[in-house]
Amino acid sequence: MKKELLFDGNEKQVYATENPDLVIFRYKDVTVAYNNVKRARFPGKGILDNKISAILLDYLNCNGVETHFVGLLGDREQLCRKIEIIPLEVVFHNRMAGTLASKLGVPDGFKPGNIIVDLCYNNEELGDPLVNQDQAVALNLATYKELEEMFSIARRAGTLLTRLFHKAGIELVDAKLEFGRAADTGAIIISDEISPDTCRLWDEETGERLDKDCFRLDLCDVTEAYAKVLDKLNSITVK
Ligand code: C5P
Repeated sequence: MKKELLFDGNEKQVYATENPDLVIFRYKDVTVAYNNVKRARFPGKGILDNKISAILLDYLNCNGVETHFVGLLGDREQLCRKIEIIPLEVVFHNRMAGTLASKLGVPDGFKPGNIIVDLCYNNEELGDPLVNQDQAVALNLATYKELEEMFSIARRAGTLLTRLFHKAGIELVDAKLEFGRAADTGAIIISDEISPDTCRLWDEETGERLDKDCFRLDLCDVTEAYAKVLDKLNSITVK
């Protein structure tokens, strides 16, 4: 049962439950980009994010990558393990797109011969700057051991997600992962959503953007694009 509101973000809310180790995530229809400069509401988007995220997090759980996801509660809500937030973002890139492509002066979508994993400080005021491991440890955000684990989990999760999306005819271009320390066991686990809001997803056949770039770049109908992702994931056996 939902108790007090613990966090009220732009795109979702987190509620306490009767169990101190569990929380409820509620997805809103609002979306923001460019550090909240751009904002809009797309009716039904929260439902799509909730369902897509549930499929992806459950898939990772089933494949040995521990996440905070426990179960779907309804159209907009999921039950999750409570975590202590680690304010870092780990970004897995199969291709260079968006910020990374502009920063390094390569064409958007450039495919290098290796996987790239980046670390950013999750701090809105500073614009989520890129940091290295020494800087993250210096700010007491995580220990070296935890960072090592986060990178290793990110690579495993990135590989698994790439494989799953490919099966659904979608190319995973990049994915942002967040981590926390589980309240129940203290383990480092993937927290927060994994959805078209946090990944770049390109239709393998048409090259169509099926992610938040639709909104960032005014490319396409956000709800339609996200619904395609859900349909494609529902059309395969997720294992
Ligand atoms: O914005 P940038 O190009 O660095 O994004 C890389 C990936 O991380 C994209 O899939 C983007 O949607 C995701 N991201 C995110 N939250 C942020 C920054 C990036 O989900 N704060």
